[in-house]
Amino acid sequence: MLPIPTQIEKNVAFIDGRPWAFYRVVPFSYSPLSVDGKKNEWMNATQFFRQIQEPGLVAQIWMVRRRFNWLDYLDRLVKTVPKERREKAKDSMDRWLHLIEQGTLPDYDFIIAFELPLPIPQNYKWITQTFGIPMRTLESLLGLRKRVFKEEKEEAFNKSYDFAWSKRAFEERAGSLSRLDPLVEHEIADFYRHHFYRGMPLKPLPQTLRSVWPKGPQDYAWLAEGRRAYGYRYVLCDQEEDERFVSFISVGSFPDEIYTPGTEIFHQLSSEFDFPVEASFRWKMIANKQATGLVTRKRKDIKDATSHIGMVDQIPLDLQQQEQLAEGLEFELKKNRPPILDSRMIFVVDGEDQEEVNSRTEQVINFFDRKGFVAARPTGEQRNLFSAWLPSDQYPARGYVKKMLPEVAASIVMPGASEILGDPNGVPVGLTRRGSVVKINPERGPQINQNASMVITGTLGSGKSHTLNNLIHKTALFWDARIFVVDPKGERSHWVGRLPGLEDRVHVLKLDGRQNPGALDPFQLLGHDPEFASEIAVSVISQFEGNLTRGDKNMLLSAAERALKTGSPSMAKMVAELHKDDMGRDLAEYLMRIARLPLGKLVFGEGDGVKVPDTGIILLQLEGLELPAEKQKPNGLRQEASVAVMSMTAILAEQFVLRGTGGFRVAALDEAWIWLRTDQGKQLANRLERAGRSANAGIWFATQNPSDIDTEILNNVSVYVCLGTSDETETTLAIEALNLDTSDEGLRNILQARRSKAMSGYGYMKDLEGRSGFIQFLTPEEELVELFNTKPEASEASKIVSEGGV
Ligand SMILES: Nc1ncnc2c1ncn2[C@@H]1O[C@H](COP(=O)(O)OP(=O)(O)O)[C@@H](O)[C@H]1O
Ligand SMILES: [Mg+2]
Repeated sequence: MLPIPTQIEKNVAFIDGRPWAFYRVVPFSYSPLSVDGKKNEWMNATQFFRQIQEPGLVAQIWMVRRRFNWLDYLDRLVKTVPKERREKAKDSMDRWLHLIEQGTLPDYDFIIAFELPLPIPQNYKWITQTFGIPMRTLESLLGLRKRVFKEEKEEAFNKSYDFAWSKRAFEERAGSLSRLDPLVEHEIADFYRHHFYRGMPLKPLPQTLRSVWPKGPQDYAWLAEGRRAYGYRYVLCDQEEDERFVSFISVGSFPDEIYTPGTEIFHQLSSEFDFPVEASFRWKMIANKQATGLVTRKRKDIKDATSHIGMVDQIPLDLQQQEQLAEGLEFELKKNRPPILDSRMIFVVDGEDQEEVNSRTEQVINFFDRKGFVAARPTGEQRNLFSAWLPSDQYPARGYVKKMLPEVAASIVMPGASEILGDPNGVPVGLTRRGSVVKINPERGPQINQNASMVITGTLGSGKSHTLNNLIHKTALFWDARIFVVDPKGERSHWVGRLPGLEDRVHVLKLDGRQNPGALDPFQLLGHDPEFASEIAVSVISQFEGNLTRGDKNMLLSAAERALKTGSPSMAKMVAELHKDDMGRDLAEYLMRIARLPLGKLVFGEGDGVKVPDTGIILLQLEGLELPAEKQKPNGLRQEASVAVMSMTAILAEQFVLRGTGGFRVAALDEAWIWLRTDQGKQLANRLERAGRSANAGIWFATQNPSDIDTEILNNVSVYVCLGTSDETETTLAIEALNLDTSDEGLRNILQARRSKAMSGYGYMKDLEGRSGFIQFLTPEEELVELFNTKPEASEASKIVSEGGV
């Protein structure tokens, strides 16, 4: 008989008359952690296994593939797009679906169930106390095992929340331990259904069941849907339209040494194969006192045996070893007083036919072999193992029981260790190292009380602009966002009329001093806040003049004040006022010279300014920009003017996202290093980063080096993407911002490796949850790759090379 629940309420299921509480372990990203970080997680997990279950009771933890119905999910995502753009949105997501179906890997969930103690009926308490009969023995003597009284049930339901409660006490003791979320009824049901639909798509439960779960005892036989045929080496799960062969593998013996990091078997299995392997670890808690008794007895037995042999012959080596092991264990049990886990492990693979399931089983067994474990597919036991997968206080299968210390279980199971990265919803943008899909929801920051800021750093050609562009496209298309893009190199003009789904939504705003004098005049842009406008005016001027003294600044500020008094202030007026000042005349004349340059006119010229369209994607470009080379200070008047103008465009962007209304807005600033290096730029970055939190707005910067951005901002940014670094110092800064281990040579090498066009768009990402991991950004839409291509393709003629040529 399969142990199917007879009642499910909240996170408790009654199985064979005993209540079990179900939780999900909140996943965390494991592999990018430093050695110390891993050890820390291992200690947390050790505490978990030491304390989470009461002695005498069973618990079971499973690593199961997360069911994610991409077809359904992407379909619903596409339907959120307005009809007239939906077709292109669908094209885009179809490419992703194709990619996903070709073989991305599932993520894994850790589900855990604890058998809850049933209270002893008050009436019988005296018996257990007087005669010292264990509760369970009494219960079975009284035939109570299968019958649960109403009050006991209620007690059990309360008890399940005690776990959530004790969890808090637990967390206080052990830090980040025990990140447990209770399941709800339909999730428990899906946990069971999953077992009968291994490797097959699982239709979601009807909405009515998901929202209102039937109360009281029920016939839950329907959870065990489909038919099963039990073979010698597999179980065949037979559903209406599909079937799967399923094989169970158990582990018989362990290597002599278990390492952390090194022996995280569950976690390693999840990234080792291109097919899913699921695992279960079931244990019964044996209190320290009882465990110590057991071990002492065992050691005595061995001792007797050896002394017996010793009289006649050499003591066999393995007996000696056993004695040493038992002695070590006894010592540990007496010293640190840990409990012992009476544990069983099962692993399972599935296949569409026998050949596939056999080959997968073989691969898993070989994996264990390499790790020093002995694993096997117990023939003739498959049916029992199928049943043993499900929680029950009776273990139906024969086979290995392993007594282990909590630290061993912790190392092997490492509950919650996964490779999760990105947002739970959003658009797919890339893959993790183990090949699962990373989604990004650009609007999620403000929803969970964080900002929506993002920084992308990377060396030249590493894919910053491409990644930024793809996010701009997705965010405008799927979130109907208004996006202001500062495009200093003018790389994006050809988007107009061509950006899929947004053909009519891209506007180029080309600023030319002759056509739009005063367009970037701070008094124009910040008319609502004259004080602030004056401050910005002074800081723009300081970019030409270098180190202004306090006296100079005062002089400039009073010129600004006088300009404000005219009622229609402008930079030109401010400069005119400055000119009236004997001390300021020199500087004013210099500024007038700049004002005659086309770029200078944008800031210092008199005009009506510019109206920024308030729809779709606005590409801001500047005519005649002459930018300093990377890592160089502006050289000459034109470059200085260019930098000053660039920082004003950032103010324009700031105004666009912060003063706009209705819907999500983004300011995307490519090549942000140009102005981030100036004081004004740094302040601006600060303001933008903070402001994004309250406004429903995202600020995205792309820049070459992590050092372009103040460390504080970089370390606090919501999403950080590093696509490659240029030297050791930059690498360290990037790794610090990712919250990873700066001494990890492997990581340093990946970040510092040279990017080629064929291999761009990869690096590390820190997500909104603060998890970091490897990411490869993918753009399966060929037309987008073409549209975002910044390097001209070599023409056919120049591709011809002759053999032996250079
Ligand atoms: N994820 C990606 N998929 C396909 N092509 C990419 C990807 N990332 C970058 N590229 C291509 O690599 C080249 C350099 O990328 P680009 O974004 O211009 O680099 P950066 O802005 O960092 O200098 C471009 O031609 C771009 O189209
Ligand atoms: Mg670029």
